[in-house]
Amino acid sequence: MSRCLLPCLLACLISSVWTADQGDGCQGSQAEQFPVVMTPSGPIRGSMMQTRRGRAFEAYRGIRYAEPPVGELRFQPPVPIMSYNEKVNATTEGPACPRPARQGYYLDEDCLRINVYTPSHTSGQRLPVVFYIHAGGFYVFSGRSDVAGPHYLLDRDIVLVTINYRLGSLGFLCTGDEVAPGNNGFKDQVAALRWVRRNIAAFGGDPDLVTITGCSAGSHSVFLHMLSPMSKGLFHRAISMSGSPIGSSLSPHHLKSLAVRQAQLLNCSTTSSTEIIDCLKTKSWRDIGYSLRGFYEFGFDPVRIWRPVVEKDFGQERFLVEQPLDAVRAGRMHPVPYIISQTRDEFFWMAFYPLRNDTLRSKFNNEWETVAPISFVLPRDNVSAQVTRLRQVYLGNRPLANDAESASRLGKLYADAIVGFPVHRLANLMCRHSPYPVYYYEFAYIGNHSHYEDPVTNKPTGAVHHDDLIYLFSLRYRFPDVPATGPDADLVDKMTAIWYTFAKTGDPNAYGGLDLPELSGLHWPAMTPDKRNYLEINKQLTVKTNLKEDRIKLWEELFPIEY
Ligand SMILES: *[C@@H]1O[C@H](CO)[C@@H](O)[C@H](O)[C@H]1NC(C)=O
Ligand SMILES: *[C@@H]1O[C@H](CO)[C@@H](O)[C@H](O)[C@H]1NC(C)=O
Ligand SMILES: *[C@@H]1O[C@H](CO)[C@@H](O)[C@H](O)[C@H]1NC(C)=O
Ligand SMILES: *[C@@H]1O[C@H](CO)[C@@H](O)[C@H](O)[C@H]1NC(C)=O
Ligand SMILES: *[C@@H]1O[C@H](CO)[C@@H](O)[C@H](O)[C@H]1NC(C)=O
Repeated sequence: MSRCLLPCLLACLISSVWTADQGDGCQGSQAEQFPVVMTPSGPIRGSMMQTRRGRAFEAYRGIRYAEPPVGELRFQPPVPIMSYNEKVNATTEGPACPRPARQGYYLDEDCLRINVYTPSHTSGQRLPVVFYIHAGGFYVFSGRSDVAGPHYLLDRDIVLVTINYRLGSLGFLCTGDEVAPGNNGFKDQVAALRWVRRNIAAFGGDPDLVTITGCSAGSHSVFLHMLSPMSKGLFHRAISMSGSPIGSSLSPHHLKSLAVRQAQLLNCSTTSSTEIIDCLKTKSWRDIGYSLRGFYEFGFDPVRIWRPVVEKDFGQERFLVEQPLDAVRAGRMHPVPYIISQTRDEFFWMAFYPLRNDTLRSKFNNEWETVAPISFVLPRDNVSAQVTRLRQVYLGNRPLANDAESASRLGKLYADAIVGFPVHRLANLMCRHSPYPVYYYEFAYIGNHSHYEDPVTNKPTGAVHHDDLIYLFSLRYRFPDVPATGPDADLVDKMTAIWYTFAKTGDPNAYGGLDLPELSGLHWPAMTPDKRNYLEINKQLTVKTNLKEDRIKLWEELFPIEY
């Protein structure tokens, strides 16, 4: 692993105090403290930060990659910025896009921002670029450094890019006609990728060696970029963590009912698409962002609300032009070496809320056919045969009670429905139809922290959705940084080594002369249709086969496709 060179090491050691908001400022002269990079779009001033191992790196945060999507540009595709009128001040954190957040959290509709972290823009090297698309169901989170912190990955020789894209109705409203053809949040991501293609060399990144990676909603996004005519040529490897848009239902052509719901929540007329949009344009971004609660149909379900749409052609630049399943099966994609993953327990914890709530639990018991399609993101029509079978197999046909047995059974159903089955399907499709290797992993490690911690003991009880992020990014909004030594620290070294190796070579194994002791002995074979290998990531890295297939078999029977 390359270390901080002497001058920056000294500079950083002097300033042992950091604060997340001010960006780990290192002492030094003005130029050292606030580096300026000349990009083809203009000059950008950044700041210095420091990794968990004490390496100083440059941070350029909150840079606009598209015009503020406000006023007449609300609900429109992004308008890229090709040149900056004056030196961009990228020394502090930008806002997150509108969404529910605690009081005082920095939100703004002017949120199309990109963050670039580089070991050095002047070294003359062209480093692999890792482009991270954040999680959050297309309605929460951001690319800000409190939720996607660079402090671990920048111990590797990579350039890390994180982004915001518009969320909820502001990003994904789709009436299915010319008024709102949809997918603007994905078009934002494309605009950010185009910005990288144009500007990243100035930061020391290689525009011909870009790895797109994302978790959950970001994982859906990563895969869709392989299909999108808009994203062609903008990336060279891909990593999808815990999310796939190919599951039990096809992608819709519009999200009209969500547009109507949004209008109703803000007292807008719903008689036509034009009225909906015109009225919503007069509302504050805060009211739109904060209306998320109004979209839940059963407790906090469904976890997935806005989705990618297959866009009809109105002459607009289209992000998604056909069913993802059809595209993959016909090989109509721009495939690249691919890592796909899920965690062992995923969304198991979603069982607790409805089980502990008497009203919801009895609804589950008495109105299963109505509720199950909502909670398990199934097609809404004609699935009574399927949900009856799911109840037989997962719940043993027993009524749900507020107890451990029910939580375990219902938890597995949530986990498989929302992530396990769609990810399985995507991995199996890609290993058949992509000419590049597909590497599959299961994240099974349980460390000091987890995105679900037991409310009584405060201890992790599973390897859940987003938990692999704990070992790739500092997540200071919620967890302390992983300490310098110990098992969690070892896993940070392994995970960042895998990401680095894959970004550089397209193979997660450290062959080819990369000196990565963390990965010595790793021989992670690609998955093939006949030998469905995967890597179990736990304290050890272990190659296994047939991930969760005993449970997934049922789903293949209930929702069959031709692979
Ligand atoms: C950059 O922006 C920050 C936050 O608004 C401000 O404190 C700082 O003075 C600005 N720097 C320059 C050089 O304008
Ligand atoms: C919508 O109208 C209702 C009833 O008139 C009112 O209570 C509510 O505050 C309005 N909501 C918004 C967001 O304007
Ligand atoms: C139970 O769920 C219902 C429906 O979401 C909600 O209105 C109610 O407040 C919940 N009860 C408790 C005790 O949380
Ligand atoms: C309902 O689903 C069954 C299979 O589960 C299928 O045979 C039938 O054609 C479907 N009916 C409609 C109206 O889609
Ligand atoms: C958990 O954190 C403590 C204190 O920082 C550390 O000593 C220990 O090694 C960590 N445990 C694991 C599993 O990493």
